[in-house]
Formats: sequence, structure tokens, C-alpha cells
Amino acid sequence: MKNKLKRIFPILLPLLTISSGLWAQAEEAADPYFYDRLFSNGMVAATIVIVVAAFIALLHLLNVMVKVQQIKVYQEAGLEAMLEEVEKSKEPFWNRIYKRLTDAVPVEKERDVMLDHDYDGIKELDNSLPPWWVAMFYITIGFAVVYMAYYHITGAGPSSAEQYEIEMAQADKAVKAYLATQANLVDETNAELLTDEQSLAGGKSIYDANCAACHGMLGEGGVGPNLTDSYWIHGGDIKDVFKTVKYGVPEKGMIAWKSQLNASDIHAVSSYIMTMQGTNPPNAKEAQGELYQAASN
Ligand code: HEC
Repeated sequence: MKNKLKRIFPILLPLLTISSGLWAQAEEAADPYFYDRLFSNGMVAATIVIVVAAFIALLHLLNVMVKVQQIKVYQEAGLEAMLEEVEKSKEPFWNRIYKRLTDAVPVEKERDVMLDHDYDGIKELDNSLPPWWVAMFYITIGFAVVYMAYYHITGAGPSSAEQYEIEMAQADKAVKAYLATQANLVDETNAELLTDEQSLAGGKSIYDANCAACHGMLGEGGVGPNLTDSYWIHGGDIKDVFKTVKYGVPEKGMIAWKSQLNASDIHAVSSYIMTMQGTNPPNAKEAQGELYQAASN
């Protein structure tokens, strides 16, 4: 166990350092609040280190207890030679560290720190505070000072409210990017009439550029049918119009637009066409197709 730890640590530490360094480089480029994240990640890392250290300390406590027991047994059995063996085994590095961290009085010397109190046979030892604990106490004080200065006095770090705003802004961006990809997923089965000004303005410019030549600037018709009346050859629902525009009627001279316009463009221009309904432009072409009545449901 001891040997394994000794072998793992020198490998683990540089690995951690290198990987966190690489990660830091990658993050710093993109994230303006990199140092705040580093700070909170540092806290997580420190916690992990403390837990691991506590675990190792426990293991060693166990080890020491076993050894003490060993010595006792050998003494009782009068096996002096074995006793020497045990004592000869040089104190390992981790044991020394452990002793320094705990500053515990050896079991044999406990009498020296025993207090006079006797609580129904339970006695109290006057051990000094373990240095690891005292160190942590001072570290937390230092941490609090740095924390106060960074977040509250200088205001260099964002407050919780600011952090919330930042994350909401990031999420907003992500949602917009997502919706932009979603807009192109629209097709003739799920198209709904768009009514927002931006989409309709986009639809108008697409119409003026691509459709007006055949359907007239105002939709009055020309080579193509009148788009302002309620007569439709291929159906007057937004989904029907979407489908006509997308797949066209090639044999009748209406192009399939799906190779030239993306789905959201088709959606916008189809919605724009719907706004022409009932506008009665001059020179309107005679009605073609059937009178379309919106489904009453
Ligand atoms: C080259 C001429 C031409 C162009 C350009 C053109 N169309 Fe057409 N369009 C036609 C013709 C012709 C028809 C009639 C097809 C038929 O008789 O079945 C038609 C039909 C339609 C219909 C169906 C009308 C109905 O009564 O059902 C819609 C909607 C339509 N076009 C939209 C558009 C849109 C939107 C554009 C531009 C992106 C466009 N068209 C560009 C020629 C054109």
C-alpha cells in the first residue's frame, strides 16, 4: 500500500498540473469569466485533496495501531528478537509526515498529557490541536480575506446576480442559435403562418426578387396565377402554399424552389403571400382554381 502510494503520487501530480494547464489555456481564450471558474474549480480541487489526505491519514492511523498491537503481542510473548525487528523497520516517509501533521503524543507517553479529570473512568488527554487542522483554520481565514477583496471590495469578480445575468445571456444566445437551426426544419406538414414583421419583410424581399416576375409585384398575376384572390389551384392553406412553393409545378412553369431557397425562406415567402389575400391590386388576373375556404375548425 505504502509503496503503491509512493509510486502513484509522483506520476499523478505532474499529470494533474499539466492537464489543468492545458485546460486553462483552452478556457482562457473563450471565456471572459475564466478566472472565476478557475477559482471555484480550485475550491473543488482543494476539497478533493483534503478528503484524499484525510483518507490517507486514516489508513496510517490504522497502520500505527496495528504496529502498536504487534509490539504488545511480541512483548507479552517474550519475543525480544522479533521486537527488535519491528523497531528496526525504519519509519517511512508518510509516517513522519503524518506525525508532523497530527502532532499526536505517542501512546507510550500519553500519561504525560493525561488530565486529572476522571469522568466515570473516562480520562481526558491534553493533546495540542493537530497542525493540519490549525493550518486549515488559517487557510480559511486567508481564503475569506481574498474572497472578500475579490468579490466584494474591488468588485473584480461578478456577484451572484451578475453571474446569473451572464449565464442567462449565454443561454439566450444558445437558444437563438438552436432556433435558427430549427427554422430550417419547417416543412409542408408543420408550417404555421408567420406574422412577425421581420419574417414578412424577409418574405417580401424574397418575393420581389424571385416571384414578382411571374406573379406580379403586387401578386396580381402574370405568367403565374393571381395570388391575391381566394381562388387557388393547389390549395390556399399556408401548408398548401408552402408545398407548392417547395416542390413547384414544373410542368406548368412553376419552379420547385427547394433547391434555391432554404426551408425558412420558403416559410417566410409563403407567409408573405398570405398577406396579399384580398388586396385587390390593379390589373388583377382572372381567378384560377377553386374558391378556398379556410377550414372552420
Ligand atoms: C417562371 C414563372 C414563375 C416564377 C418565377 C414563380 N412562379 Fe409561382 N407559379 C407559376 C405558375 C405558372 C403557376 C401555376 C401552376 C399551375 O397552373 O399549376 C404558379 C403557381 C404558384 C402558386 C400556386 C397558386 C395556386 O393558385 O395554387 C404559388 C403559391 C406560387 N406559384 C408561389 C410562387 C412563389 C412564392 C414564387 C417565388 C419564390 C414563385 N411562385 C415564382 C410561375 C412562376
